[in-house]
Amino acid sequence: MNKGTEIARAKEVLIDGGLVAIPTETVYGLAGNAFSQVAIDLIYATKKRPKYNPLIVHIKEVAYLDQIATNIPQKAYQLAHEFWPGSLTLVLEKKANIPAIVTAGKSTVGIRVPNHPLTLKLLSDLDFPLAAPSANPFGYISPTTAEHVEKMLKGQISYVLDGGDCPAGVESTIIGFEDGEPILYRHGAIPLEEIEERIGKIKVVNKENVTPSAPGMLSQHYSPTTPFVLTGDVHLELAKYKNKKIGVIVLKLNRPIAKEHLVLELSKSANIEEAAKNLFAAMHQLDEAHLDVIIAQRMPESGVGVAINDRLERAAKK
Ligand code: TXA
Ligand code: MG
Repeated sequence: MNKGTEIARAKEVLIDGGLVAIPTETVYGLAGNAFSQVAIDLIYATKKRPKYNPLIVHIKEVAYLDQIATNIPQKAYQLAHEFWPGSLTLVLEKKANIPAIVTAGKSTVGIRVPNHPLTLKLLSDLDFPLAAPSANPFGYISPTTAEHVEKMLKGQISYVLDGGDCPAGVESTIIGFEDGEPILYRHGAIPLEEIEERIGKIKVVNKENVTPSAPGMLSQHYSPTTPFVLTGDVHLELAKYKNKKIGVIVLKLNRPIAKEHLVLELSKSANIEEAAKNLFAAMHQLDEAHLDVIIAQRMPESGVGVAINDRLERAAKK
């Protein structure tokens, strides 16, 4: 099938109330008609996602924002214009046309314009926006290829729109507002400092104070089935194990590691954006390798490294 036919097929399924896995620049999403109670129910059921965790609504362009959100702060418009299409989700007061189930009963809705040509074309062909969480079973590693989605949700969704590897590789940065002032809910593909350059200092939600109803912040998430350890010193950690099958994730291999271990470098040039792109694929690969443990190296805490460390911490959380 050519891409036009594939988009037409995806469109048909979505109009019917079915689910389609869609490519975005961050990760693949599990998409359904955001105005359809039936489609949204199906998303929660397929993902086995608890109903208290709201979904992001994907729209085709900035101009659509006013169709589904209201009382939009000036700084939100500014961010939308600066970063959309792109890896920024804005949490705004919802309009009544967004069903309560999309937002888990909250008065706010998460919204973004994804930056992927196939999904942008699909959105522009539809007369409704797409609610889509990441296309993985709840709590497991996010998908950055169509193959990841097929492996995890095979037979459970009507169609996977294959848009190749996701170039950013970690989920969107999420920003909400309190009294018109921005607040960061989730570190993501766009580094906080890049957003602060545009609109000034942003408050960060304190991880320790967050209840499950304040979402995006569940402490255990992105978790492989294999025991997963995060460390500042891979060699020190490796020395703790004897006769174990071990997988290792490093940014770049600076010191040799014994040949019997399965070592994955996220970027040979220690480029942190490339590392983000390769992160979830490395986690999927190692989780399939029947290992006793996966040891991941903490990344430099700057730029998108902050979001990578956030995902690694949650993966390692017991
Ligand atoms: O990059 C992304 O954001 C990907 C792609 C598919 O767009 N989507 C994604 O969705 O990561 P999901 O469902 O895996 O994560 C969305 C996060 C959840 O943690 C959810 O709690 C939070 O966004 N969220 C959604 N609506 C919210 C709201 N009204 N208030 C606070 N957090 C919200
Ligand atoms: Mg997710």
